[in-house]
Parts: sequence; structure tokens; C-alpha cells
Amino acid sequence: MSITQSEFDLVRKLAFDEAGIVLEHDKQYLVESRLQSLAKQTSHESPSSLIGQIARDIRLKQKVVEAMTTNETTFFRDHEPFEMLKNEILPALIQARQETRQLRFWYAACSTGQEPYSMLMLLAEHFPQLASWNVTHLATDISKDVIAKAKEGEYSQFEVNRGLPAVYLTKYFQKKGLHWKVSDALREQLRFQELNLNRTWVGIPKADIVFLRNVMIYFDLDAKRRIFQQLERTLEPDGYLFLGTAETTLNVTASFQRVAFGRTACYRPAAA
Ligand SMILES: C[S@@+](CC[C@H](N)C(=O)[O-])C[C@H]1O[C@@H](n2cnc3c(N)ncnc32)[C@H](O)[C@@H]1O
Repeated sequence: MSITQSEFDLVRKLAFDEAGIVLEHDKQYLVESRLQSLAKQTSHESPSSLIGQIARDIRLKQKVVEAMTTNETTFFRDHEPFEMLKNEILPALIQARQETRQLRFWYAACSTGQEPYSMLMLLAEHFPQLASWNVTHLATDISKDVIAKAKEGEYSQFEVNRGLPAVYLTKYFQKKGLHWKVSDALREQLRFQELNLNRTWVGIPKADIVFLRNVMIYFDLDAKRRIFQQLERTLEPDGYLFLGTAETTLNVTASFQRVAFGRTACYRPAAA
């Protein structure tokens, strides 16, 4: 069942005002199909009847915003950033933190958790010395549903087939019915928090490595600038920022500089 132009405009405005997400004018079909799934899930007759309720139901309004997010992710997405971390960045950072023996990772749009779990597996595999360090991993996202799934750490065969080396599957997952569950030892290292990047960040400590991948593409220039401004205060002066392959700081902020490693790159505070 299709939505009217004014319903589409209302949802576009809501996604933009709440989450900073820009839905272009040609996205009516996408919005409709996402609202259809949500209407089914929340026992509403149609997307229109659901939209009619959001002014009176804050949780439903939040669910509409969450339904407008794209949660696509895979284990070891893009591969090369993880190689760069393993071969260059982590050895350098571990050297630089010999005194404090502390490292802080933040996954700022963690979706269903494949990104933080990839990092945890990489650390367990290649940097066992960190087991005696104070290492923290904070994973945040705007969506309650993806955080719940990430916390659960349970993935389908299709999901583990995407990017996860077979040897890691047998080493770090247990079979649970038709699904695979991440080991408790890895899950216990992750702390989750809901966080809307488009608002003032509360409770986000300083970090040495920040993953802000494949989320900035959904925001307009002002939102990106506000996010980078907050990030300036959050990322350590000698820390590292990872964006998605289609994302850049170019023409957005001069506070971070691109550092190339082979065919891939990350960003560092400009003064570092
Ligand atoms: C495409 S996924 C990227 C996941 C992962 N970082 C990766 O690169 O594979 C984008 C994620 O950003 C989240 N997101 C969208 N808008 C957000 C906002 N305003 N604040 C926080 N997270 C947001 C979505 O819920 C979604 O899980």
C-alpha cells in the first residue's frame, strides 16, 4: 500500500531532524517498503496508519527513524583497513602506549556487530600481549534493534559466510542450531550504548581508534561538520580514524589529515 506525498515528506523530515539522515526525493519506494515491514512488525494495518500514530507514540516514532537507517555490514569489511591495522597501526600504537598499557576502541556506528567482533578477533589472533593491558571496546549505534543483535552476537550461515575466514569461525564461534554465536570471551569485551551521532555525544570517552565507517554518507554537510567537531575532542591527538571507502574529510573539515597506507587510508588529527 503506497504512502502519500505528504506522508513521505513527513518521514523524510523526521529522519533528517532526528538522525541527520538525508532521504532524497527519489527514495519514496524505499521508504514505503521499509514502512511496510515496520507496519507488519508493529501490527499496524498499513504504513499510513502507522504514520498516523507517531505523533502520539514516541517509541513508534523512534522505530520509524531506525527503519530509515541502512544496516548493511560484513565481517572484516573491505579487508584492507584491517590489514593496515594489523601491520602498521597497532604495532605503532602499542609501542606508543607502553607506559600506560591502555588502548580504547570506539565503533561509532556498529550496526549488528560484525565490525567490532572483527577487530576483537584480529587482536586475539595477532596481539595476544594485549590480554594483560587495559583495552576497552565501546560499540554504539542509533538503532536499538541492531544493538540488541550485536549484543547477542548470533549470526546466520549467510552472515558468517560474508568476510569471516573459516578458521575464525571454528575458533571464535559456537554452533547454535542453524546459527553461529560469538564466544563469550569476545562478547564480554564489548560494551554497547545507544548513541545518535547527530546529537551532542554523552558518555563517550576519549579513544585511540575510532571506526566511523559507512555512516557519514547518509548525512548532509552540516551534520558531517558537527560530527567531526565532536570527534576532534574525542579522538586522541595521536589516534586514528577510519571512514568508509566512499567517505572523506575533504571539503568537510581540515581538522583531520588523510594518511595513505598502500591502496587504503585512514585519518589522523591534523596537528599530530
Ligand atoms: C551501513 S551501517 C555501517 C556499519 C559498519 N560501521 C560498517 O561499516 O560495516 C550504518 C549504521 O549507521 C547507523 N546510523 C545511522 N544514522 C545514525 C546516527 N545518526 N547515529 C548513530 N548511528 C547511526 C545505522 O543504524 C547503521 O547501523
